[in-house]
Amino acid sequence: MEHPDGPNWRRFDAALEHSKTVLSVLGAISDGLVMCEPLKGAVGLAKEVVAMIEKVRKNEKACTELARRIGALIFVILNQLGGKKEEEVPDHLRSYLGNLARTLTDIKHGLIPLKLHKGFSWASFGSALLRRESVAEQLSGYNSQIDHAVQEFTVAVLSNIAFDINRKCIAQTSTSAIPSIQISSVVSTPPIYFYGRDDVVEDAVGKLSDKERPHIALLGTGGIGKTSVALAILDHQAIKSRNRCCFVPCDSLLTASALVQAIVQVLGGSSSSGGDPMEKLASLLNVGSVVLALDNFESPWDSGGTQTELTEVLRMLAASPNVRLIVTMRGNSPPAKGDVRWSPISLDPLSPDDAMKLFCSVNREITENEKPDLDLLLDKCGGLPLAIKLLASVKGDLPCSSLLHRWERQSTDMLKAEHDSPTRLTSVDVSISLSLDSKRMKGVPEAIALLGVICSLPDGVQGGIDQLIKMNLGLKDVDTALATILAASLAFRASDGSVKVLSPIRQYMLKHHPPSALLYGQLLQHYIRLADEYGDLDPNDMGFTEACAVLLPEVGNTTYLFKQELRRAQAGTRGVARAAFKFTNFQYWTRPSTDLIDDLLSRWPDCGLKVGHREGLVRRARLRQHISDYSAAKADLEYALAESTAVEDQNMVAQCLKTLGDVHLMQGEYPQAIEKLTRAHDVSSEIGDRQGVANCLRSLSNIHRMQGEYPQAIEKLTRAHDVANIPRR
Ligand SMILES: Nc1ncnc2c1ncn2[C@@H]1O[C@H](COP(=O)(O)OP(=O)(O)OP(=O)(O)O)[C@@H](O)[C@H]1O
Ligand SMILES: [Mg+2]
Repeated sequence: MEHPDGPNWRRFDAALEHSKTVLSVLGAISDGLVMCEPLKGAVGLAKEVVAMIEKVRKNEKACTELARRIGALIFVILNQLGGKKEEEVPDHLRSYLGNLARTLTDIKHGLIPLKLHKGFSWASFGSALLRRESVAEQLSGYNSQIDHAVQEFTVAVLSNIAFDINRKCIAQTSTSAIPSIQISSVVSTPPIYFYGRDDVVEDAVGKLSDKERPHIALLGTGGIGKTSVALAILDHQAIKSRNRCCFVPCDSLLTASALVQAIVQVLGGSSSSGGDPMEKLASLLNVGSVVLALDNFESPWDSGGTQTELTEVLRMLAASPNVRLIVTMRGNSPPAKGDVRWSPISLDPLSPDDAMKLFCSVNREITENEKPDLDLLLDKCGGLPLAIKLLASVKGDLPCSSLLHRWERQSTDMLKAEHDSPTRLTSVDVSISLSLDSKRMKGVPEAIALLGVICSLPDGVQGGIDQLIKMNLGLKDVDTALATILAASLAFRASDGSVKVLSPIRQYMLKHHPPSALLYGQLLQHYIRLADEYGDLDPNDMGFTEACAVLLPEVGNTTYLFKQELRRAQAGTRGVARAAFKFTNFQYWTRPSTDLIDDLLSRWPDCGLKVGHREGLVRRARLRQHISDYSAAKADLEYALAESTAVEDQNMVAQCLKTLGDVHLMQGEYPQAIEKLTRAHDVSSEIGDRQGVANCLRSLSNIHRMQGEYPQAIEKLTRAHDVANIPRR
């Protein structure tokens, strides 16, 4: 929470130096001051908590830091609301104070079991606490809660700025129209445990240190860590030692004039004195170099109608030789691109390793045998830091297996901290719905419908916009719909050109905005067509290379859709079972897996397939043989053989025997293999299947060869050759 130039913070630090303890500073600034009821409550609680903390040895950094943050927060609040009577404090600030009191009460209750006292020793106490979160861990969690409270207060105060001016006349705006309001200039610190962003931070710091290089735009979806990266940049030694660092939360700034006023205030200027705000801003920028972070800039930018004025402000800031800008924005493109030279940095999801580290930094209650379930849960978080952090705090002492069950019922809804009024930082659903409800998305109704379709594909849309057009979904303007989704960062373009959606957003969409039956039907038909066209080709067929090019990238999507559809209804959509069965042939030749055929067999004959159950069993046996699951393959073949014999289907009898023989052969069970292949040979011969006879002879020849019986091997192979080459009559 270093912020050398923030006037409030500087004043608080100066006061702290003078008084030595945070408690005494709080006493000095609050005793005798008129305070409204909720403020009195919050200040009283803050004093209690600080008193508890200050009993601990002073050199403990986490403790002193927590007291300092609480002190600074109360200092800022008192600056704003001290001396005001109940009726002078707006409702939302009163309710903020209520929330703050609850946070402080939670912290107070959390501190009691830690038994912090003068004689407290970290060394002796540490071992007892290792079972749960360590003391330091808990305190750092409280530090984050206070940081969050600081952010919320800033937002609550900023949302008080309710004035409407002629947007075209920012420069001429009379400051008498601007309400006198004090905006917090306290800058939060980045998360104490911060993973996987070192490269991004270093890269941005390098760029900011060079005046010739572009300004920084941090882009990405909600909760990916844009604000945290911005704070880490401001907190970097190379930046904070040479610049004043200013942070302006823009969540509730809807106009350019509100933005200007907010910047003026964080720079330490007064908004109540008269004068042209742009001139005032310019003069404030004349003093030393400033790194100015405009956080959540999508709020004013997307609010409609103010982009020209906002561009003016950005252009003016960017052109100032003293200013280096950092903008954080939900989306895939920086604002005012034509007027400001940006270096756009899109934040990727955290790697699985960093996701695990982040989870463990919040929750260490993980046992070795829980790890597989935890991996599944982290997979559902898709590397989104917000989701991972909330998952870790929701877990508490619960086993990961029960969280997985909860996920089945609640999906992303479970990723929220207990909070009276959930925010983008305490609830994944709130964070996602903020983007879905944005003006940008609302302005293109087909965007949300298309997003629902994309979310139905676990591997995303492989061929991007071209494929969406080919799918013929029936949308009027699929280009604009896709551009809107990408611009809102609800989906992203992967390096291979496919369009993908992060797992939590996908889960949320499937639960709350699944595609309409019509769109889903069109999507399904596209995959049915693909499987019908390419599914039953074999490597000897002409079109097999093309089939691989088309179907291989779609294996995940196709199996997911077909399985879902087969499970959905008795017979599923017409044609699905047929297409799925064909697709199992493609799986056999390329990526053998029994997932789809298992589903088909468990629904036979209800799935509506015209081929016999025995054929399904043989298909599965071959797939099982391919993945070396020999005993299961044999079991399928024995069943299929019995069924085929019962209905006197000699063709299938021969196929079952031949495949059984091959499985025995692969397991080195030569006598059984010879017996089955000889029977298969005889049946094939009876029904006049020359190709079948030749295949059996080839397999028999292999057995002889493997046993070193070369004359017999040659004899079988020669017969196979002859049989195969007898011209048909
Ligand atoms: N790399 C990281 N390591 C650890 N925690 C992180 C990391 N990135 C973000 N977080 C945590 O994840 C949460 C969301 O991060 P942050 O607020 O920075 O996201 P954002 O992209 O700014 O979201 P929004 O678009 O809603 O403003 C915060 O609680 C933050 O502390
Ligand atoms: Mg943010």
